[in-house]
Amino acid sequence: MGKYVIAGNWKMNKTPAEATALINEIKPLVADATCDVVVGVPFVDLPAALEAVKGSKIGVAAQNCHWEKSGAYTGEISAPMLKEMGVGYVILGHSERRTYFGDTDVTVQKRMRAALDNGLTVILCVGEYLEQREQGVTAEVVASQTKIALGGVAKEELANVIIAYEPVWAIGTGRTATAEQANEVCAQIRAVIAGLYDADAAKAVTIQYGGSMNAGNAAELLAQSDVDGGLIGGASLKAVDFAVIVNAAK
Ligand code: PGA
Repeated sequence: MGKYVIAGNWKMNKTPAEATALINEIKPLVADATCDVVVGVPFVDLPAALEAVKGSKIGVAAQNCHWEKSGAYTGEISAPMLKEMGVGYVILGHSERRTYFGDTDVTVQKRMRAALDNGLTVILCVGEYLEQREQGVTAEVVASQTKIALGGVAKEELANVIIAYEPVWAIGTGRTATAEQANEVCAQIRAVIAGLYDADAAKAVTIQYGGSMNAGNAAELLAQSDVDGGLIGGASLKAVDFAVIVNAAK
């Protein structure tokens, strides 16, 4: 459906020197990738990562950005700051941000606006908690997260939005959604995009699966009709595993 994108979410891992070393390991292994490849690194690793990816097609993502350009927001980083550095992508609305740091659908929408206004491509994370899946409200939860985050986003701007379906119960737990579960919810998200915009927009948007995707299960997940890539946590910290996933995205 959409263009395949495999993105690593390193979370709070790797120092700048370690980031350089890992990217140098990854680079030759993904040189023949037919999908887009992105590494999402901690803020302080961005200069090292941008330097290390030179001469490759690997993109660099930050893991969040604030919605204001500047101001009294101690500890925060703005979208213009990322843009000026040459960062291409930003992960927004990750469940760890929502769970531990108070991000809400509304603040995710504001961050989305700032990121798009500054020419960043957003990887928007949505996904349900286990209790929500058990209560049968997964479709409603991801639909409302998606709709609110995309509030005010024009159809043309969708070219700079990737959606990552990440069931919270599958993140870092080793408990992957089955390929059918992943595909079902990715298709539901695509239907939400069709409703908000139109069928062309729904077809073109990249929808990733994330949550314990690894070298062993990636091929099956990525073969699903509505899964256009992956957002990879743990396995993105191992060059060989990450490369297997990238090379499975055909
Ligand atoms: P995981 O993390 O692959 O370690 O489950 C995915 C994510 O949080 O993006």
